Amino acid sequence: MKLLTSTRLGKLHLHNRVVLAPMTRNRADAAGVIGAMTVRYYAQRANAGLVITEAVNISAEAKGYPMTPGIWSAEQVEAWKAVTRAVHAAGSTIVAQLWHTGRVGHSDVRDGRLPVAPSAIAIQGQQHFTPTGLKDYEEPRALTTDEVRATVDDYERAARNAKAAGFDGVELHGAFGYLPNQFLVDACNQRTDIYGGSIANRARFVLEVMERLVGVWGEGRVGIRLSPTLAYNGMVDSDPLATFSYLIQELNALPLAYLHLMRATPDAARFPHWPKDTITAFAPLFNGATIVNGGYDRASAEAAVTDGAAQAVSFGAPYVANPDLVRRLEVDAPLAVADRSTFYGGGERGYVDYPTLEGGAPPAARGYWLVQATVGDPSRFAAYTTVAGPLIASFGGRVLARGDVAEVVEGEVPRRPYFVEFPSYAAARSCFRSAGYQDAVALRAGAAHFDIVIVEGLAPPPSGA
Ligand SMILES: Cc1cc2nc3c(=O)[nH]c(=O)nc-3n(C[C@H](O)[C@H](O)[C@H](O)COP(=O)(O)O)c2cc1C
Repeated sequence: MKLLTSTRLGKLHLHNRVVLAPMTRNRADAAGVIGAMTVRYYAQRANAGLVITEAVNISAEAKGYPMTPGIWSAEQVEAWKAVTRAVHAAGSTIVAQLWHTGRVGHSDVRDGRLPVAPSAIAIQGQQHFTPTGLKDYEEPRALTTDEVRATVDDYERAARNAKAAGFDGVELHGAFGYLPNQFLVDACNQRTDIYGGSIANRARFVLEVMERLVGVWGEGRVGIRLSPTLAYNGMVDSDPLATFSYLIQELNALPLAYLHLMRATPDAARFPHWPKDTITAFAPLFNGATIVNGGYDRASAEAAVTDGAAQAVSFGAPYVANPDLVRRLEVDAPLAVADRSTFYGGGERGYVDYPTLEGGAPPAARGYWLVQATVGDPSRFAAYTTVAGPLIASFGGRVLARGDVAEVVEGEVPRRPYFVEFPSYAAARSCFRSAGYQDAVALRAGAAHFDIVIVEGLAPPPSGA
C-alpha cells in the first residue's frame, strides 16, 4: 500500500503516510500540564508516520476549554519533553498544534474573563462545554489592534517553546472556527483596522502568525490546518473560495511543511455557493505537500495518496480506538469503534486502554527494544534494575543503557528509559510479562528497521529485591 510507504513533508520525514490527527482529550491538569498518561497515549500511537498533538494553548489568554494543555509555562514545556522523547524513541515525528480559541470559550473556564475575538459577535445556535455543563456563548470582547499584535507575539513564543520541548515542528490550528479562522471569515470579522474588511486584511493575522512560526522554525517545519468549508462554530464566510484561495496563494510564499486540509461534511450542502469538493478546490492551489482529513478509511485514504490528491492522510476517531492503526491498515484488520463518551476528559478509560490487535502476528524482531519503566519507589530504582538485569539476561536480553535519559518526574515517580536488546519479540514480551510490567505495547518503526516495545506501568521489583 502506498499509504504505508515513507514520504517527506518539507523537512519532516514520515515512515508512512498515516498521520495521527490532532485531538483534544482534556486530560491535562488545571495548570495545563500533561502527565504520564498522555505520554503513554502518544507513545501508543507513534506508529503513525506523523503525530500531531492535540490543540495546545499558546497562552493563558488562548484557553477556552477546561483541562486542555498549554505550552506557555516552563512546567508545561518540561512535560511535553516526555512526549516528544517517547514518540522519537518509536521512530516517529511529532509536531505541536498551536491553538488560540478566540471566541470559542467561556468566562467560566477563563477565570471570569470574557473570551476575546476579532469582533464582539457571539456564536449563535451552539453551546459551550464548561466545568458546570453546557452554556450559551457570551459576546466576546473585541481585541484591540495592539492586542492582535501581542497575540502574534504569543504564537511566536509558543513556537519557541515547542522547539525547547523537542518537537519537530508546529502546526497552526487555523481550522474549526478558532481564532485564526475567526479572522478569516467575514461573518465574525467586522473589524475596521488592518485586520478586517478586505480579504487581504482578514488574511493578515494568519499570514503574520505563519511568518513568525517560520521565523522560529525555518524551512519545512511549519504546517497549517484549514477547514474552508466547515460551518462549525459559526464559520460561514460569504465567499470561502475567494477567501481561502487568496490565503493559500499567499502561504505559497512561505517555505511550509504542509497544508492540512479538512474535507467538507454533509452540512456544507446548506451553502450552495460553497465549493462542492474542498480537496479538489483548494489542494491544487498549494505548492507544497497536503495532508487530507475527514472520514477517511483504508480504501479512501489509499486512493487519496495514489491519485495524488494528498501526500498523507490523517485519522482522528479511528486512532482513538485503534492505537495500532497502522498495523490494522497493513493487515486489513477490522477497526474498533471509539466510545464518544470518553473523548473529552476523564482518566485512562477510553484514552490509553484500547487494546491492540489480538492474535495478530507479532512483528519480527530486528534489533533493539526500548523499554521505558516506571518504578513506584524512586529509592528502589537501582535495586530494581539490578534485579531486572539477570531477569532480562535469562530471556536472552542485554541492557545496553539505562537511566541516561533525563527523567520525567510525575509526583514522586521517576520515569527512566533504558535500552534492551532481545533476540526476538517473543523473548522481550515474555520477559516483561514475567517482570510484572503492565501493558506491553508493540510499536513498529518501519523506517528505522527496528521494532520497539514501550512498556509502562508500575513494576514492583521482583520478589527478593
Ligand atoms: C475527540 C476529538 C478531539 C478533536 N480535537 C481536535 C483538535 O484539538 N484540533 C483539531 O484540529 N481537530 C480536532 N479534532 C478533529 C480531528 O482532528 C479530525 O479532523 C476529525 O476527527 C475528523 O477526522 P476522522 O474522520 O478521521 O475522525 C478532534 C476530533 C475528535 C474526535
